[in-house]
Amino acid sequence: MAKQHKRVLVTGGAGFIGSNLVRLLCDAGYEVLVLDDLSSGFKRLVDKRAQFFEGSIADEKLLLRILSRVEVVFHLAATSTITYSMTHPRFYFENNFMNGVRLLEVMRKKGIKKLVYASSAASYDGKKRTPIAERDPIGPINPYGASKLAFEHVMSAYFNAFGIEGTALRFFNVYGPNDEQPNATRAIPMWLEAALAGKPVPYYWKGKQKRDYVFVEDVARAAMLAAEKSHGFSVYNVGSGTGHWMIDILREIERQLDIKLVLKDMGERAGDPKYAVADTQKVQKELGWKPKTDLEEGLRQTIRYYKKRFKKV
Ligand SMILES: NC(=O)c1ccc[n+]([C@@H]2O[C@H](COP(=O)([O-])OP(=O)(O)OC[C@H]3O[C@@H](n4cnc5c(N)ncnc54)[C@H](O)[C@@H]3O)[C@@H](O)[C@H]2O)c1
Repeated sequence: MAKQHKRVLVTGGAGFIGSNLVRLLCDAGYEVLVLDDLSSGFKRLVDKRAQFFEGSIADEKLLLRILSRVEVVFHLAATSTITYSMTHPRFYFENNFMNGVRLLEVMRKKGIKKLVYASSAASYDGKKRTPIAERDPIGPINPYGASKLAFEHVMSAYFNAFGIEGTALRFFNVYGPNDEQPNATRAIPMWLEAALAGKPVPYYWKGKQKRDYVFVEDVARAAMLAAEKSHGFSVYNVGSGTGHWMIDILREIERQLDIKLVLKDMGERAGDPKYAVADTQKVQKELGWKPKTDLEEGLRQTIRYYKKRFKKV
C-alpha cells in the first residue's frame, strides 16, 4: 500500500513526543488516529488533521473499535515521570507494562503486524561513562525504567510467537516544543519555566550529570523511519550521540536568554542516573537516522516556544 494511504494509530499522541510525531505523520500524508486519556497530554496539541479519541489503552473495547484497518501502531502512551515512579511503582507497571500487553492483545486479534514503541534510555543503569550501545548491559535503576524495559521483552515474545514486528526505540533525553507535562520534573521545561518567570532555577547534583539531549522532531523522525524500515524485533538507541554536562546546558540557556540565572541547589534526586549518552551507530546504519538539530539550535526553538507559552514575547 502506498505510504500516503497508510492508516496508523499513535497512542499518547496528545503528549509531548506524540503530538510532534502526529504532526510529522500528517505532513507525510498518513491517516492518523490518536488515542490518549489526557492524563498528561492536551487535546489542543493534537494536529487537527488527525482523528482524536479520548480514552485509555486499557479500554480493550475501545481499542477493538478504533483499530480497524490500522497498519502500524506507534505506542507512546505511558506514565513517564521518574520521580513519581519512585513512590508509585505499581502504577507504572500497570500502565506502562500491563496496558501495553492489552494493546498487543488487541493488535493480535485484529491482525495488526507492526508496533513502534517509545522505549527509554532508563533501560540502562546509567553508570557507563562512554556512549552506551544497545548490546551493553541493561539494568534499570528506577521502576519507570523497569516498566519500559519489561515491555520490550513482551514485544520480543509477540514477534517470536505471533509475528507482530516490533521496534523499541530507546529515547534518551528528549526536549523541544510541546513539552507541557504537568508538574514538570524534566530539566529543560522546569528550567525555562523558572527562568522566564524570573524565579530561581532548581537543579540537582550540582549539574554534574552527563546527558544526551535529542531534539523532539529528530525523535519523531526516527519513529517514522522505524515504521518504514525496520523488520522483525529490534531495539535502537535514539539520542544525539553527544554528552553534555547539565551545568553546561544551563549556561547555554543563560547565554541564549541573555540573563544571569539564579540557581537553586536541590541536592541529589533519587532514581537519577549519572551518565546517559547514546551510541547511535546501529540506528544510523540500519535505519539511516541521524539527528539534524544540534543542542544550540534545538534550545533556540525550545526557548521560542516557551516564551510564547508563558507570553513573554
Ligand atoms: N520525554 C523523554 O525524554 C522520553 C525519554 C524516553 C522515553 N520516553 C517515552 O516516550 C513516550 C512519550 O513521552 P512524552 O515525553 O511525550 O510524555 P507525555 O507524558 O507528554 O506523553 C504521554 C502521553 O500518554 C498519555 N497516556 C498515558 N497513559 C495513557 C493511557 N493509559 N491511555 C492513553 N493515553 C495515555 C498521556 O496523556 C500523554 O499524552 C513515553 O512512552 C515515554 O516513556 C520519553
